[in-house]
Amino acid sequence: MKKIPVLIIFLCLLHPAYSQSKKALDVDKELSYCLTQVKKTLAEKQPYNRLPRRISKADSNWNYVGIEDWTSGFWPGTLWYAYEYSKDNTIKDAAAGYTNALTPVLDEKEHDHDLGFMFYTSAGNGYRLTRDSVYRQTILRASDSLALLFNPKVGTILSWPRMISQMGWPHNTIMDNMINLEMLFWAAKNGGDKKLRDIAEKHAETTMKNHFRPDWTSYHVAVYDDKSGEFIKGVTHQGYADNSLWARGQAWAIYGFTMSARETGRRYFLETAQKTADVYIKNLPAGHVPYWDFNDPKIPDAPKDASAAAIVASGLLELSTLVKDKKVAQHYRAEAERMLTSLASSAYKSGDQNHAFLLHSTGHHPNGTEIDVSINYADYYYIEALTRLKKLRAGKSL
Ligand code: GLY
Repeated sequence: MKKIPVLIIFLCLLHPAYSQSKKALDVDKELSYCLTQVKKTLAEKQPYNRLPRRISKADSNWNYVGIEDWTSGFWPGTLWYAYEYSKDNTIKDAAAGYTNALTPVLDEKEHDHDLGFMFYTSAGNGYRLTRDSVYRQTILRASDSLALLFNPKVGTILSWPRMISQMGWPHNTIMDNMINLEMLFWAAKNGGDKKLRDIAEKHAETTMKNHFRPDWTSYHVAVYDDKSGEFIKGVTHQGYADNSLWARGQAWAIYGFTMSARETGRRYFLETAQKTADVYIKNLPAGHVPYWDFNDPKIPDAPKDASAAAIVASGLLELSTLVKDKKVAQHYRAEAERMLTSLASSAYKSGDQNHAFLLHSTGHHPNGTEIDVSINYADYYYIEALTRLKKLRAGKSL
């Protein structure tokens, strides 16, 4: 009987994620791997208004989507990070081409909250690296459009107008919406309306109040009365159950509250980021990459979500720069490095299997779509996290 645990330990030691975790992650090697994969995707030669979104297990090529897709900014954003690393002008030109192709979205009526996802990853990174004023104008326009979805009575941005009638959710805000705030904070500091900052801060405050259970796990969706502003209920859309911990939702919370703490200097946002990170880390399985939902009863046979791991790794690297206590900061940094080391192992890297960086992400499990796939946002946050780690190791700010 005693032989079984010994055998399990032995098998765990053989797992690629474990054997790699003993060495410090070679960030340059991983960034140059990303560059190799980026070049393979560029060789698929798609027009700039076709963006790679996912690769299913059965496929080796990307499935492409149009510019209105909520994930359309991640590919140009990934190209900007690849350019930042390589200084390769071919990649810069492609990044600019895909970024500029998104602007017609701004001529349409805002149909949901995803404008920050789409434009801060693309034009935001473009401006950060080139200072081209066209990108600045794009971000300001996107921010003004996003602000039109803010309901001052509730104190948050409406995430999904279509769900008002589809689900009977008069005003709904999803945790993912925290990510869009970074664009509003930026716009307010860079020539946009100063009210954009107030909207972003109010949204984060209201979310902090209503979107968490007492143990700091999060609801995916908060439903509000659009007239009184009253919080009605917390539910899920992409998680296992209303009260379960959907991995990517918590990842958005960790990343979003860390960013809000950076932008506002508010201690309560930093504390929220830490509490949401602590409960996530405490419940992680071995290997530091979560199952798609921490409460799926099928665990350990449930699919993983590498995208959540990449988002959290990037968020924790920033959190480690904001926390004053050196030991706690070091803990977040070490956790982030462990997550990245796992993602960089052969268990998670696409390598020759397909042109993405990473395998094993889960998009919309309840819908039965994008389960155990490669997905553009996992790649985006992976290359962002590697870039951040490289900067931190060089003693630079993020
Ligand atoms: N923002 C949608 C998702 O995380 O799947």
